[in-house]
Amino acid sequence: MKVDIPLTPPEEIGFPDFVGWFHSNILIPCPLYIITTVDEHGIPNAQPNTWGLPFGDKFAQFFVFYDWASHHTIQNIITTKEFVINIPSEDQVSQAMRTVEHYPRGVDEIAASGLTAIPSIAVKVPRIEECKTHFECRLCWYKETHRRGQDDAGVLVLGEIVAASGDNDVLAGTSPEKIENMKTVYVLSRNVDTLNMKITNSMTYGTIDRLKDFLQLEKDGRVEYI
Ligand SMILES: Cc1cc2nc3c(=O)[nH]c(=O)nc-3n(C[C@H](O)[C@H](O)[C@H](O)COP(=O)(O)O)c2cc1C
Repeated sequence: MKVDIPLTPPEEIGFPDFVGWFHSNILIPCPLYIITTVDEHGIPNAQPNTWGLPFGDKFAQFFVFYDWASHHTIQNIITTKEFVINIPSEDQVSQAMRTVEHYPRGVDEIAASGLTAIPSIAVKVPRIEECKTHFECRLCWYKETHRRGQDDAGVLVLGEIVAASGDNDVLAGTSPEKIENMKTVYVLSRNVDTLNMKITNSMTYGTIDRLKDFLQLEKDGRVEYI
């Protein structure tokens, strides 16, 4: 028997808990990454984000994500047409979370979060040294999806990946070794108080190294493709 999953939370679930409500019900984890950008004066900004994915083929690679128009991140991207996706491993989750702090414009959010900016290969936006892999992107387009009250909107952002890099220790070795070293973080649910830019409950997440169980199944021939 199928039951409906409501698209909106019940009345009693108010702000800010509704932010992660749907996702904590559909059980589709999303990868954790930090988006870095710079403003028109070159001052870096950093934002943790989970609603995005890389895709592409041998002709081009892309990264698509969803942001709110009120965030410095999308405002900087519209100005400079560049951004970098920095992927932390599980060991950097607490550090990565510090970038959720909403600093006033003009503050270097990478330094303020206790992280280290290093130059990128192809874009002016810096990478975060502590993260394990990096996708440097140029903006292709952005599109408003819907209004969020009077002052805000959802924005879908597409960038072409023009350079990619990572730490040698996660890029070397066999797939299971890479997975073990990388420990990519997948977030199931999280809530953020977007007024005060604080996490309001503990985040539920898992890491990619558990996928090695699937690799093993595949090797043993126990996974069948139709
Ligand atoms: C784990 C986590 C995931 C988040 N994912 C998103 C997201 O996918 N899209 C978004 O607009 N905000 C997301 N946020 C909220 C922003 O990171 C937060 O509002 C941030 O302060 C915005 O920073 P900025 O104004 O410097 O861009 C997330 C926050 C956390 C802690």
